[in-house]
Amino acid sequence: MAAFRTIMAETTKIKEIKMNTKELIDLVNLDLKNERKHLHFYQNAAVMIGGLHRMELREFLEKEAASELAHVNEFSELVVHLGGVPEAGINDYPTDLICPVAILKYAIAMEEEVAENYALRLRQTHEMESADVAVAHVFYEDQVMDSWKTAKELRQMIRKYEDDAHAN
Ligand SMILES: [Fe+2]
Repeated sequence: MAAFRTIMAETTKIKEIKMNTKELIDLVNLDLKNERKHLHFYQNAAVMIGGLHRMELREFLEKEAASELAHVNEFSELVVHLGGVPEAGINDYPTDLICPVAILKYAIAMEEEVAENYALRLRQTHEMESADVAVAHVFYEDQVMDSWKTAKELRQMIRKYEDDAHAN
């Protein structure tokens, strides 16, 4: 959550001014650190997860990790195409979750966080003042759809456990 607040504070600073390519690269690099976190979280959760449905959920989490790897590549490639260098950093994530409901709840929070970040990116790039900004805008349209859908699907998976006091 602290990392999320940092991202929001950093992005709010440049929200009001017209986007140039350098600022765009900085934003995409911020998001890249979150995408890398998603990749590592799903990969770690896939091996840590316990319970009766371990094998099935492990497969699901590995599939999510594969799709996050594709996102990491897409964000990195966008930075390169914009003339920047992809950052190597990664945002923090819990490595010790075992409970399937706790894992899925964390994944929901994570996906909803980035869906909101990408909605903000769409507002920040909506004037499409250059081809670079226009391409980033279209790029974020795909990304917000992907994270939003994943969050909704995850919510559906844990619907019957939402009031379970032990699932934290
Ligand atoms: Fe992603």
